[in-house]
Amino acid sequence: MQFYIMTLFPEMVMGGLKTSIIGRAIKNELLSIEAINIRDYAFNKHNSVDDYPYGGGAGMLMQAEPVYQCYKALEDRIGKRPRVVYLSPQGQTFNQKMAEEFAEEEELVFLCGHYEGIDERVLEEIVTDYVSIGDYVLTGGELPAMIMVDAISRLVPGVLHNDVSAEFESFQDNLLEYPQYSRPETWHDKKVPEVLMSGHHANIEKWRREQSVIRTAKNRPDLLEKAELTDKERILAAQ
Ligand code: ADE
Repeated sequence: MQFYIMTLFPEMVMGGLKTSIIGRAIKNELLSIEAINIRDYAFNKHNSVDDYPYGGGAGMLMQAEPVYQCYKALEDRIGKRPRVVYLSPQGQTFNQKMAEEFAEEEELVFLCGHYEGIDERVLEEIVTDYVSIGDYVLTGGELPAMIMVDAISRLVPGVLHNDVSAEFESFQDNLLEYPQYSRPETWHDKKVPEVLMSGHHANIEKWRREQSVIRTAKNRPDLLEKAELTDKERILAAQ
């Protein structure tokens, strides 16, 4: 899978994505991530890419033309019209289901705004998806793009060592993940739950499912409304 990130701050994006699991996947050629500097497409001698908004208001806007030229050069390289995600608090809120859908693409382009945003006209021409990472305002789209790249990358086959670990985790079935424990058996006087040491797989599965329900009821009751629960589980969630 190939990610292209259009940004005024390429070093910010690349620095954060070269380590750990994503870094290994790049080395193994399962992923490639390229940050493209929109400023390279500035069309005036001052290399500026922003200007004042018509109608007034605080701050500067990124101008349409450099963004468009940057996109066009990329489209020519890719050889087709790619999906272009614009990161903005005005977009649809990102979630695991969207990550799964984006992970099906061969290539994905992210467009990161800075300052007060980007001239609407170029967005209308090139953007296919408007995505927000949550109801708060950041200084730019770079961190949201990195978050999306991370969430999508780990769903690409082979990126995680253990492919099943992407299957049984939070948000599957609209439930949060159950608690997990490793050695030692006792730590700070706290014991690992007995059932996990029993080797009885059916009981372990049952316990984990119950813990997921309890946790979701406590921390994310909004998710629980969409989860398919048995009558017993509904009672457990209501306690
Ligand atoms: N840019 C600024 N804030 C953002 C957010 N919450 N999500 C996506 N892009 C953003």
